[in-house]
Amino acid sequence: MQKNVGSLLALYPTPVTIVGAKTKERVNWLLAAHVGIIGHDRILISLAKNHYTNQGIKDTGKVSVALVNEKMIPKADYVGSVSGAKEDKSEVFVWHEGENGAPVIDESPLVLECEVTDNYETDTFDNFILKINATYVEESKLNEHGKPDYEKIAPVLFEFPTYSYLSCGKVIGKCLSFK
Ligand SMILES: Cc1cc2nc3c(=O)[nH]c(=O)nc-3n(C[C@H](O)[C@H](O)[C@H](O)COP(=O)(O)O)c2cc1C
Repeated sequence: MQKNVGSLLALYPTPVTIVGAKTKERVNWLLAAHVGIIGHDRILISLAKNHYTNQGIKDTGKVSVALVNEKMIPKADYVGSVSGAKEDKSEVFVWHEGENGAPVIDESPLVLECEVTDNYETDTFDNFILKINATYVEESKLNEHGKPDYEKIAPVLFEFPTYSYLSCGKVIGKCLSFK
């Protein structure tokens, strides 16, 4: 029997991502798991307005969104726990500049390089709508058709109710094959 536990933000797990942008001072990273897909060519990242990264995203219009694997968790958790306004996080990850100028993390298995097309602001959040300009995938994590292989990428997931990281599961079926 189901129990109603009230109005709970419970649409999890979501992928953990590292959002990167250049600020006036330096490159900065934060962790974001409140991410989504809007249509087939746009994604959304929902960032609290008081984060240091937001100004860099607004100034440059360029941002990277990187998936995290298990090995990256300690660094990812760090950039998700201290603000660039207080500590310089620019050297946490080795990075290079992507084709549109956003900082791209070398060790991430998959990085989306994006440009901001809109900001759906709420009282406390910047909800940046991003167009994907490029997708960088570690070559060993591509399948035989040149597509990202998510079993190999093994992105770390997140859930808010107990604030935990989860691992990704196995493929359990092919879509549209159950008729
Ligand atoms: C697992 C995890 C997920 C997070 N997800 C988000 C998120 O989706 N949106 C957000 O605004 N902050 C999120 N945060 C918090 C920011 O990453 C954190 O406050 C960060 O230090 C802000 O950095 P900045 O001030 O340098 O931009 C998350 C933190 C953790 C640990």
